[in-house]
Amino acid sequence: MSVYLCGELEPPELEAWLRRLREALPEETIDHDLSRLGPAMVDVAVVANPAPGRLRDLGNLQLIQSLWAGVDRLLGDATLPLDVPLARMVDPAMADAMAETALWAVLSLQRGFFAYQRQQQAGRWQVLPQRRADELTVAVLGLGELGGRVAQRLSAQGYRVQGWRRGGGPLETVLGSSDVVVNLLPLTGETSALFNAARFAAMKPGAGFVNLARGAQVVEADLLAALDSGRVGHAVLDVFQTEPLPAGHAFWSHPSVTVLPHAAALTDPRSAAAVVAANVRALRDGRPLAHLVDRGRGY
Ligand code: GLV
Repeated sequence: MSVYLCGELEPPELEAWLRRLREALPEETIDHDLSRLGPAMVDVAVVANPAPGRLRDLGNLQLIQSLWAGVDRLLGDATLPLDVPLARMVDPAMADAMAETALWAVLSLQRGFFAYQRQQQAGRWQVLPQRRADELTVAVLGLGELGGRVAQRLSAQGYRVQGWRRGGGPLETVLGSSDVVVNLLPLTGETSALFNAARFAAMKPGAGFVNLARGAQVVEADLLAALDSGRVGHAVLDVFQTEPLPAGHAFWSHPSVTVLPHAAALTDPRSAAAVVAANVRALRDGRPLAHLVDRGRGY
């Protein structure tokens, strides 16, 4: 049986993944060309956010291993076989990268570095008040593999961190008592459009908003209104309703928005190939698979 690598990967990325996966699993046949493998021979699909329908014809699948941490797009594929175990990517290296991005964003908000960037563009020399880390309360929404690491890193840096997870009491209370809100919740039916006008209105005036999760969790028009009114002081956005962020979108040029191209924490083949290999070997040996998605819960 063989391993099918499938998804939206640029040629150099595809080459890197094939090389690392073949190194990590020398005993396996691994290819991205389904016609070379033959659909009936594929029992493992290693998927990088594939377009819906790509796994439809694989009748002998035993494992779908995502290279992405978030599996919302996969779960949105009505053709995805329901009886095949689906594993998401859990790689400590990715959690570290996410913690670095969150730390950069929170630190920049704390010390006014985004404001200094605006001042530079305007040719303005003006010193802003210098806040200490322990004067900021940071909400980390989502305390899974990524959010948990982010919360640890921020508290090690001296911030007052309050975590919030699904079912963890009223979100409004957390929003209203935080200077920065960092979103790392998975996209599910419950979190879709979570950040709407009411939620932004519940935030502290001038709070920072850092979205490192999914664009569909934010009502973009409501965020723009909250930025324009100053309710949200600055937003750092890695994810958007439509990606790539369309040319001319208001976020591109908004003075209070920092845009990242969905790059807060990339899956790194150098470490993640070993994560995939461990699960493929578990399947071959009949051992329990790791990081399985609970489809009812949605992550
Ligand atoms: C990136 O967004 C991922 O889900 O890995």
